[in-house]
Amino acid sequence: NGIRMIGVPVDLGQEQRGVDLGPGALRYAGLSARLSGLGYIVEDIGNLPVPVRDVLGAERELRYLPSIRQVCETVYQAGRSAVSQGFMPIFMGGDHSMAVGSIGGVTDEQPAAVIWVDAHGDFNTPQSSPTGNIHGMALAALLGEGFPELVSVGRPGPKLHASDIILIGLRELDPEEKLRLRASGIKGYTMRDIDERGMAAIAREALGRLAHRTRLHVSLDLDGLDPLEVPGVGTTAPGGITYREAQLLMEIIADTGLLRSMDIVEINPILDNSNRTAKIAVELTASAFGASIL
Ligand code: ARG
Ligand code: MN
Ligand code: MN
Repeated sequence: NGIRMIGVPVDLGQEQRGVDLGPGALRYAGLSARLSGLGYIVEDIGNLPVPVRDVLGAERELRYLPSIRQVCETVYQAGRSAVSQGFMPIFMGGDHSMAVGSIGGVTDEQPAAVIWVDAHGDFNTPQSSPTGNIHGMALAALLGEGFPELVSVGRPGPKLHASDIILIGLRELDPEEKLRLRASGIKGYTMRDIDERGMAAIAREALGRLAHRTRLHVSLDLDGLDPLEVPGVGTTAPGGITYREAQLLMEIIADTGLLRSMDIVEINPILDNSNRTAKIAVELTASAFGASIL
């Protein structure tokens, strides 16, 4: 049960500079040592090739769709081979657009359920998006909606059913995105749900709803956490999941023994001079992979 760390320094899915430094921030924060300390064999295969936006002038008006598609193809193949070789891949982003490749790849052979921790739904289509940023469209693409170039990454068609995915931490949806999400049948837990019912109840209910699958993928967008605790993210939304709530969620996920892969995305170390966000991400990942306090 080895873990394979895969760096995906993509920042093309959004406008802020600095998310491409996420893989380095996670390495400096000690992700590999933390996980090998838990008894895992960990291999870091370095960063996948990602074009630098400064040399993609002509693609800007296309929102870098051709390059994002190419990156997601590469991520898909890396995820597929990691799983088929018996590794549990951890995809270190980069922005959330790379999840089109990572979740596609890890579901190539067998389906998986996904827990998507995020302030946002990432459920826009090019028509519904007010910004045009592709990181806000990743989940829609995985369900077969939006740019055909993204829907067809790795293999044709949708990569997830609505019943395979749970969103946790929602608090900022665009008007049309909200309607789309309601119509989709995807279960989303908002900050209100967490405040009223507590993270433990939400986590257990979420896992119960995903019990038809035997493999779990966690897609951790650090902006799901509260920006007071996790300042190094590009698209901040106040009133988020606390560090303690996120820890509890990861621990309850670890208890299932079903976690097989993970994304850690949207870390922007430029906005975070002490690398606090990456350090917190390392602790949460360790908990998801079974670290216990006592
Ligand atoms: N909903 C907004 C948009 O479509 C924000 C998306 C933020 N996504 C993210 N992965 N942080 O642009
Ligand atoms: Mn996201
Ligand atoms: Mn987000």
